[in-house]
Amino acid sequence: MRNTRKQKKRRLFITMASLVIILIAVVIYVEGRLKDETELPPVAEEPVNEQPTEEVPDVEKPSDEVPDDDNKDNENENPAEEPQQEPSAPAEDITLVEDPAAMDALVNKKNNLPGTYVPQDLVKLDGIPTVLENPEINQLREPAYLALKELFQAAADEKNYELHARSGYRSYGTQTDLYNSYVKNHGQAAADKYSAKPGQSEHQTGLSMDITCAAMNFQLDDTFGNTDEGKWVSENAHRFGFIVRYPKDKEDITGYFYEPWHIRYLGVELATKVYESGLTLEEYIQNN
Ligand code: DAL
Ligand code: ZN
Repeated sequence: MRNTRKQKKRRLFITMASLVIILIAVVIYVEGRLKDETELPPVAEEPVNEQPTEEVPDVEKPSDEVPDDDNKDNENENPAEEPQQEPSAPAEDITLVEDPAAMDALVNKKNNLPGTYVPQDLVKLDGIPTVLENPEINQLREPAYLALKELFQAAADEKNYELHARSGYRSYGTQTDLYNSYVKNHGQAAADKYSAKPGQSEHQTGLSMDITCAAMNFQLDDTFGNTDEGKWVSENAHRFGFIVRYPKDKEDITGYFYEPWHIRYLGVELATKVYESGLTLEEYIQNN
């Protein structure tokens, strides 16, 4: 009698324990599915590193994306294994930029740089805090470099902010690898909203830089626009010849999501005019 009751108790215990284990497994599975579904694609800026000793390139993310990027390992895949986009004749509504070296060159989805264009006055970012080790991206054209140094110095002197440079010049080939890797991982429609196709990136001009700071953990995402450093940059970059190139709510004009971290050198005069107009570079050029 006592044994039977004991056995019943044990059976009941085993049944309850099994139910709890099944319940936990179901919760873990459902949570995993939900996380997969809410992850937005990362936004591209840094090139995929070709040198295995260098750090895994980080990614720009829209603000509503989950904070940790579980796909980082994917980003480190050897770009040589990825499908390469060959330089091709531009489509009909695309024109080649006439003078790619002009300080005011407009580079976008419709105005493309030749695949062969490499700026002749690239310099290393000496004396500027940088985030990544890839030597290619730690370069800018000389006038942009000197202006960036002044901008960073002013941020330090006037506000005690320490800005960091994350991604500057990118060759056509690097942009090809980067764009292709994002298309591969996230599809072309998504990639086109945050990553320029080769020939369409301002980074190939050597006049654009992605900047960040410790408050951002040296990453790039649109919350930079809410940091003290990001606000200061948006209000003061023009004093040193830069504009924030992809402003908020202008995606339909620029073709890209808001990128408060991406600044473009135009020279003080033009940058100040564009800043004071409140227009994008596309709009300003069209109106003037
Ligand atoms: N993220 C900007 C649009 C670029 O790839 O150049
Ligand atoms: Zn950029």
